[in-house]
Amino acid sequence: MNILILGSGGREHTFAWKIIQSPLCNNLFVAPGNSGTNQIATNLDIKVTDFEAIKKAVLSHDINMVVVGPEDPLVQGIHDFFLASESLKHIPVIGPQKAAAELEGSKQFAKEFMMRHNIPTAAYQSFNASNVDEGYDFLETLNPPYVLKADGLAAGKGVLILNDLDEAKAELKSMLVDAKFGNASSKVVIEEFLDGIELSCFVLTDGKNYKILPTAKDYKRIGEGDTGLNTGGMGAVSPVPFATPSFLNKIEERIVKPTISGLQKDNLPYKGFVFIGLIKVGDDPKVIEYNVRMGDPETEVVLPRLKNDLVEIFQAISNQTLNEIDIEIDERAATTIMMVSGGYPEAYEKGKEITGLNNIQDAIPFHAGAIIKDDKIVTSGGRVMAITSYGKTYDEAIKKSYQNIEKLHFDKMYYRKDIGFDL
Ligand code: AMP
Ligand code: GLY
Repeated sequence: MNILILGSGGREHTFAWKIIQSPLCNNLFVAPGNSGTNQIATNLDIKVTDFEAIKKAVLSHDINMVVVGPEDPLVQGIHDFFLASESLKHIPVIGPQKAAAELEGSKQFAKEFMMRHNIPTAAYQSFNASNVDEGYDFLETLNPPYVLKADGLAAGKGVLILNDLDEAKAELKSMLVDAKFGNASSKVVIEEFLDGIELSCFVLTDGKNYKILPTAKDYKRIGEGDTGLNTGGMGAVSPVPFATPSFLNKIEERIVKPTISGLQKDNLPYKGFVFIGLIKVGDDPKVIEYNVRMGDPETEVVLPRLKNDLVEIFQAISNQTLNEIDIEIDERAATTIMMVSGGYPEAYEKGKEITGLNNIQDAIPFHAGAIIKDDKIVTSGGRVMAITSYGKTYDEAIKKSYQNIEKLHFDKMYYRKDIGFDL
């Protein structure tokens, strides 16, 4: 079959790397893709939210399945767009329909879902511009630090954690009244701060059945020791050593099962990945957020550990026969380290040539913000490339990733040297 992946990051290169290993895949397309996907698939110069252009490409390339990488097209309803079209409705789309994608598209929607289905999460209240004074009063009842979340999609920047009450009030005003994050902060969720260590759980669902993929932990801050600004993710490890069988059992019983049954009860059509951001508070898991897609760079460590044919899994998702699949996981650990452009997550330069890729040994470079220009691989984004390695332990894998990163170079290249420091 012919398959189209939407997206252009390290996550999508990893999907492409995995999908071309399947005998079920004849031709693979990626829109818009990057220099990594260009080497193993056909890149199409189409934006992930340009549904009409995607439709044309699907019909002209005889595409039989669409795998959606990022959240934007899902939240904007790409799955529903396919179902509403006579010529597209028979083509499986991997990713939830719009109503279910609200789990990521609106923090308030996600909180209400969790409350309705008794899924453990931080206590919260939500506010808009008309009751900002009540927001100030609510902040006064809480202990610092204060957690403020823009309701809508804000490119990963919409969560503020503040130690000072006056600063928290000022930020609340800036979000609600001065539209700090545009329309995304027309509503703000204020929630109880949870103190613990974070991890992520990835679940596949066909809307009825579910399968749990390996856990992973990403490192979101730009600076070593988890300091500085939030990024999309600077590295990841899988499995998460503190996710013991009894802890994983709690995640499945208290969170995964009620989430999947909640989707059914609420009539939220879901065929795709559920990414559950968790925090371990004491010995108990609580949900920080839902994402309706895989994580990036978590995909770069989770998919390399999946032994199954991914296309077979996607077919089972589309046919609602996921219960017939046995998930097989590589026992080895996988780690990835993200190389980023100097300055990221603030302003940075692009177009820097990346050298040394031919010297990589025993590691997989997943390209992210990198493109081919004049036959050279050059940087095109903040997160440039994720270097994934396997090891008997995560320590061994991390060492291999670092040994390989040292062979790579571009002007103003930066990476964290302490991934896994807290494990
Ligand atoms: P989110 O975009 O919801 O994943 O939030 C971004 C980051 O903010 C999370 O990865 C956590 O590190 C942190 N965070 C979010 N909510 C809370 C909370 N209630 N307590 C503590 N940290 C939080
Ligand atoms: N690495 C976090 C995310 O993909 O949202």
